[in-house]
Amino acid sequence: MKAVYYYENGGPDVMEYGDVPDPVPGPNTVLIRVAWISIEGGDLLNRLHAPPRSKPFVPGYQAAGTVEAVGDAVTRFRPGDKVVGFNWNGSHAELFAVPEHYAYPVPDHLDLRVAAIVPVAMGTAHDALFEYGHLKEGEFVLVQGAAGGVGLPAVQLAAKAGAIVIGTASGKDRLARIAPFGMHHGIDYRTEDIAERCKDITGGKGVDLVLDLAGGRGKDKLVQALRPRGRYQVIGAAEGTLPTFGFMELIQKAMQVNGISFGRDMHAPRVHSLLADLFGRVANGELALPIDREFPLSQAREAHTFVAEGHPFGRVLMRP
Ligand SMILES: NC(=O)c1ccc[n+]([C@@H]2O[C@H](COP(=O)([O-])OP(=O)(O)OC[C@H]3O[C@@H](n4cnc5c(N)ncnc54)[C@H](OP(=O)(O)O)[C@@H]3O)[C@@H](O)[C@H]2O)c1
Repeated sequence: MKAVYYYENGGPDVMEYGDVPDPVPGPNTVLIRVAWISIEGGDLLNRLHAPPRSKPFVPGYQAAGTVEAVGDAVTRFRPGDKVVGFNWNGSHAELFAVPEHYAYPVPDHLDLRVAAIVPVAMGTAHDALFEYGHLKEGEFVLVQGAAGGVGLPAVQLAAKAGAIVIGTASGKDRLARIAPFGMHHGIDYRTEDIAERCKDITGGKGVDLVLDLAGGRGKDKLVQALRPRGRYQVIGAAEGTLPTFGFMELIQKAMQVNGISFGRDMHAPRVHSLLADLFGRVANGELALPIDREFPLSQAREAHTFVAEGHPFGRVLMRP
């Protein structure tokens, strides 16, 4: 099959496009003929930081397509079904093998192109806000990275739950595009002091919940923006570097820091129900995630570069 692969960590140029052996399905495998690949923030972080577990290493968490074949023990799918799959690698290819409990049926009335971007982005946003973030109506939530794949669903889900949503992005134009998704206050992280703005917006109290999708040097301002005993969700490092928390920093604010790893939950029946609900809400127009650009898989280098440097609004897709 045609696929994108690499042998070592690095920038987009470590990726090659060419022929690799087809995946070998096991008894619990759902083999997907890929139609659309969603480029996830984690695909970039893995390429930069996570040593390849096998070589050549085919990257990629998530893709949508049609079931090509199933293993003997698979009960929920059969060839021809529309499906979105998740795995720790392998989506950047014509064929994507996923365990059955990481495959999600796509409703008939939902386009595969749209379904491809739903599970990780929307599920992570939902879990960070509610399952682990315990967001309540009337609370202030700060979403660092609100124009991204996880950020835009987080803005919508929080607003629909009755929270007051503060979002950050690089520039006023991008903030203006986020506002219709339910963001009440926008902060340009490049030019404004996030902590000062949050102090003003919350009447000096500080925000109740932070969703940190960017990591990096911005983390200290997010900590300052948080109220005492506030909740800080460590989700991602789109800025490219990984900050740390100090022992005293946690004590002084009695801060509740929580690491999110949605992939660890995605096999669970709870998440299967959640994703079925989110697919339905996307299909009926209640939730949306814009698709900024599409690339052929053969141009994965350009596609990853665009995600890292081009400030896409929402998601970027590739097509085998
Ligand atoms: N833990 C988990 O389970 C989990 C699940 C999904 C994703 N993630 C991680 O979460 C992160 C975001 O994922 P994503 O898919 O939403 O990525 P994305 O679509 O690429 O969006 C990233 C966002 O981060 C913002 N950003 C970049 N640098 C920033 C900075 N220095 N300060 C503030 N904001 C900055 C960007 O805003 P502008 O474009 O406006 O600059 C962009 O909107 C990634 O690191 C990903 O690996 C983790």
